[in-house]
Amino acid sequence: MQEISNVRHLSKRVAALKPSGIRKFFDIAATMKDVISLGIGEPDFTTPEPILEAGVRSLRAGETHYTSNAGKLELRQAIAANIKRLYGLTYDPLSEIIATVGVSEALYLVMTALLDEGDEVIIPTPCFVSYQAEVFLAGGVPVEIPSRMEDNFQLDPDKLRAAITPRTKIIFVGYPSNPTGAVAEHDTLLEVAKIAEEHDLLIISDEIYDRLVYNFTHVCVPALGESIKRRTVLLGGLSKSHAMTGWRVGYAAGPEDIIKGMVRIHQYTIMSAPTTAQDAAVEALNNGEPYVQEMLAEYDRRRKLIVGGLNKLGLTTFEPRGAFYAFPKIAASGMDDEVFAEKLLKEEHVAVVPGNAFGAGGEGFVRCSYATAYEKIEEALHRMEKFMNRHG
Ligand SMILES: Cc1ncc(COP(=O)(O)O)c(C=O)c1O
Repeated sequence: MQEISNVRHLSKRVAALKPSGIRKFFDIAATMKDVISLGIGEPDFTTPEPILEAGVRSLRAGETHYTSNAGKLELRQAIAANIKRLYGLTYDPLSEIIATVGVSEALYLVMTALLDEGDEVIIPTPCFVSYQAEVFLAGGVPVEIPSRMEDNFQLDPDKLRAAITPRTKIIFVGYPSNPTGAVAEHDTLLEVAKIAEEHDLLIISDEIYDRLVYNFTHVCVPALGESIKRRTVLLGGLSKSHAMTGWRVGYAAGPEDIIKGMVRIHQYTIMSAPTTAQDAAVEALNNGEPYVQEMLAEYDRRRKLIVGGLNKLGLTTFEPRGAFYAFPKIAASGMDDEVFAEKLLKEEHVAVVPGNAFGAGGEGFVRCSYATAYEKIEEALHRMEKFMNRHG
């Protein structure tokens, strides 16, 4: 029977959406044996036991129902208390916080709640693959401002100023950065905040990696000042810090009117974040700190191994101060990032992600996640050495 294609029925917006450059490599890797994946952006750890147990307890207690749209009050209180403890910021759990299905949903909600057709969102790149897509799906226009390794992948305030037009509505920031591991300096963010005030722009700050920093004090954007807080939506979650990617829980904290708008969309599309995950998240936020510290120490050990190892191979790697990614420049191989990733996978069975998947400024780099076992990173480096001996 002839297969009927329905592609033509897709909306123009969805049809124009490019598939994520990350998935393609996972799909190839999945067909191969003996692959070491440095491609994946999630902790290799299982969720710490007491958090798991809190989820099991929740199920056993019959917590199998919807919750309030914005999330259980107990969870919103725990989120507020956590932000207060870490950054001294006060958010009202009743009106300024929403629990979401990961930061992924929070991104979707905040863009949909704020953007009208043609509104521009300035996004420093290289960045997480969803940012541009979420802006685009909400009818907005992503405007990329590339950052450079030579500048430690810092956002350049001059480039930011130059990118502002009468249609600009939002400045997007996401530090520590996926894929570069860059953290944002206090003064740079203060400059960004000043520019936002001058031009009456909103700031969305994705701080999902805030707890994963190495010898650095994370700068929380709304903590830069009360007037900045009033124009910032802070996104955060437990996926990375507490090894909870599969639970699907995150949050947004921000001005009441914006959060209300996000809840309005959320109530029609999602209803409420998974109840079991919400209960586990309460345990994670209230009692999970020792586990965060334990995992952080292990990431730091791996970070030193991979950064040292890649540099030794001639793949110049800037020191990541946050998240769990190394972002080596692969010029020494004489290949572009797509070819490098494809050949490395086919010849040595090591999966990395080409930098161009992360937007302008990512070309010529690959992302190597060190959220994988120390021994596997050692073996991956060994294989990459063989690869570079052939191609370097
Ligand atoms: C920068 C960044 N933001 C958001 C997310 C989404 O995380 P989640 O939806 O699991 O909370 C990711 C996941 O890789 C990420 O790297």
